[in-house]
Amino acid sequence: MGKLIMVSNRLPVSIAADGAARRTTGGLASALEGANTDEDRLWVGWPGGTEEDFNDLEAVTMALAETGLKPVFLSREEVDGFYEGYANSSLWPVLHSMVERARFSREWWDIYQEVNRRYADVVLEAADDGDQVWIHDYHLLLVPTMLREGGKQLRIGFFLHTPFPTSEVFRALPGRSTLLEGLLGADLLGFHTYDYLRHFRSSLLRILGIESETERLWLDGREVRMGVYPIGHNHTGFEKEMHDPGFPAVLAEHRRNLSGKRMILNVERLDYTKGVPEKLAAMKRFLERHPDKRTEVLFVLIAVPSRQGVAEYDSLTEHVQREVGAINGEFGSIGHAPIQFLHRGFPLADLAAFYALSEVCMVTPLRDGMNLVAKEFLDCQRPEFYQRPGVLILSEFAGAAQELSLALHVNPYDIDSVADAINRALDMPDAERLSRIEAMQGRLRKQHSGVWAGRFLSDLEAVPQSEDRVEITEMLPMAQKLAADVAEGKHVALFLDYDGTLRDFVDVPDDAVPDGELPPLLRRLAAFEGLSLGLVSGRPPVFLESHFAGLGVTLVAEHGYRWLDEGKGDWLLFNPHVNTDWKHAIRDHLEQASLLTPGTHVEEKQSALVWHYRKADPEFGQWRARSLLDELTVMAANLPVTVHHGQKIVEVSSLQVSKGLAVDHLIREWGCDVALVAGDDQTDETMIALDPPGVDFTGVKVGKGPTRATRRTDIAGLRKFLVDLARLLDEQRGTQQS
Ligand code: UDP
Ligand code: G6P
Repeated sequence: MGKLIMVSNRLPVSIAADGAARRTTGGLASALEGANTDEDRLWVGWPGGTEEDFNDLEAVTMALAETGLKPVFLSREEVDGFYEGYANSSLWPVLHSMVERARFSREWWDIYQEVNRRYADVVLEAADDGDQVWIHDYHLLLVPTMLREGGKQLRIGFFLHTPFPTSEVFRALPGRSTLLEGLLGADLLGFHTYDYLRHFRSSLLRILGIESETERLWLDGREVRMGVYPIGHNHTGFEKEMHDPGFPAVLAEHRRNLSGKRMILNVERLDYTKGVPEKLAAMKRFLERHPDKRTEVLFVLIAVPSRQGVAEYDSLTEHVQREVGAINGEFGSIGHAPIQFLHRGFPLADLAAFYALSEVCMVTPLRDGMNLVAKEFLDCQRPEFYQRPGVLILSEFAGAAQELSLALHVNPYDIDSVADAINRALDMPDAERLSRIEAMQGRLRKQHSGVWAGRFLSDLEAVPQSEDRVEITEMLPMAQKLAADVAEGKHVALFLDYDGTLRDFVDVPDDAVPDGELPPLLRRLAAFEGLSLGLVSGRPPVFLESHFAGLGVTLVAEHGYRWLDEGKGDWLLFNPHVNTDWKHAIRDHLEQASLLTPGTHVEEKQSALVWHYRKADPEFGQWRARSLLDELTVMAANLPVTVHHGQKIVEVSSLQVSKGLAVDHLIREWGCDVALVAGDDQTDETMIALDPPGVDFTGVKVGKGPTRATRRTDIAGLRKFLVDLARLLDEQRGTQQS
């Protein structure tokens, strides 16, 4: 295996102008710190600050290279437009479903795209074929596709550390399509929870019209996998700190400072998603309601400064400072302020001590991708360090709530219930505290960030790569072979489906008329001696006749119910005894479905009924189609019909009629030596699956999806094949004549 290249907006360390390195704060950096994999690893990211701050970029680059870090420097303008602008003022609020806080600017979007390109270029410069590239978070949504376009053989993974909102919210973003397309360059896309994955798939469907299965989709013949990987905390890092010989002294110092007060701990970046004002309101409510506990408890509020320079963050800081002052003014007494506001970051050892000593930890974000503070607190609660076990109060809106079911769950907007939860936590008996903590600890110590990274990377390695995929086949050799067969005097027949094979789908089926080049091309092919042509469609006779009569092509309508020999004369039935008595029962059912589903309708054919839902709401239409299929399959059990789910249709058709039966009939009737069939959907599989004795037979699948065909092409590839064949036959005829 090649090396692993990690790519995130920030490097795990920030470099100051004087060269001093500082540990990066935030869930992404702290989790990845604990996810140190054994592999040969390079990390690409921003060292903080602006390009203009550093005197010697080369020296910083060299120093970072020693620890496997490769910097992407950003200019002042890029920090403004990319980091503070599009990433943190447009994307961050929208991803956290806070559209009202989002601001948009064309200039930011342009810079975001340019900076993503730069990250991709730096990676491409360092990457070799066979490397794994793991891209992190919302700053770099376009990098996966940019890397794929770089042409190297890379395994590209992407993990989103934030929530993914519902498609209704995501679509507010200017650039939404480009962002989704940017992500689809990855082989594997990871999310913290199943809900985020579900919302992402719904955005793909509603914004790009791309359908997917729960954990995969196909794009340009390539498989894109999606998965749920709840991130874990840096268990190893905390373990190391707590076993450090210096740790008891750190712990003792903080315990002394507490002077016997019951600590209610809060740790977060000062970010509006963390719900700090709401939390302060709940603390205030608690202090109002429980005067007896006012001097007993100490709320410690560690609020790490974050994204200063972004207007929303600056006004939040002012608000919080003011509010803390007001609460302390109202409820404090000489020698005691109920809230201790610490507006700075702390080293891991101090954090571990705070977590170990606190009786309650309040994790109450309004929205949070995961939240690692909750997991770190639980991990650091150890009998050798605490006096009483602690209690975790956890917001329902943190991704972590899905895993930590024994925390006291709260709705952070409901101030009264959070105030009640604080009181309940303080009054909870030790035995209950302990049993809750121990049950959660077991799980999260096993699912730490190292395990998380290992799982993601091994899944990335397992995504089928090009050599495992069914590739699109070059059709020219097939055209050459068929031309040679004709030259040898063999009777060759081509059977071609129309919609999705010779023509793309459109919303209104009647608009899918052939382009100007198709009828003359078919006429030209049908005119060659030794070559017969059949157009085998689900369309009614009137449509086929109006576009293809008189070309010398045999027309097969309604999935093999009728045919028009060489496109002239009268329509004939393949089987005059087809039973269609089943239609009235099925018709009522389909009519009912179309009444209940706007944008759908029922089409009546001689030997089939079709429910079309191309114009329905995509998710609703698909959902209704699935339930209809279930119902119809039960109803059809004793009827001479087959039920089939095609391209935005559900079709019930007579078992005595199929494209396969029709083509089999014509192959025999014409006495063919060689036959090629091409089609795109399940009804075409009945002809693709034929194996007529004594006939040199080839099935060609047009487009994606499962097939029994041995070859695959797309609409353009098939058209080129037909043009090549006509040209080769012309050349052959010219040679023969001269
Ligand atoms: N953290 C830190 N120093 C501090 C306070 C917090 O390194 O002074 C770390 C904390 O240990 C946690 C991370 O910051 O790992 C916060 O991650 P979380 O997932 O809770 O929120 P995020 O900041 O990623 O939104
Ligand atoms: C969140 C984001 C990370 C980010 C961190 C700190 O955890 O998901 O990508 O690094 O916050 O934010 P900052 O803007 O300081 O990098």
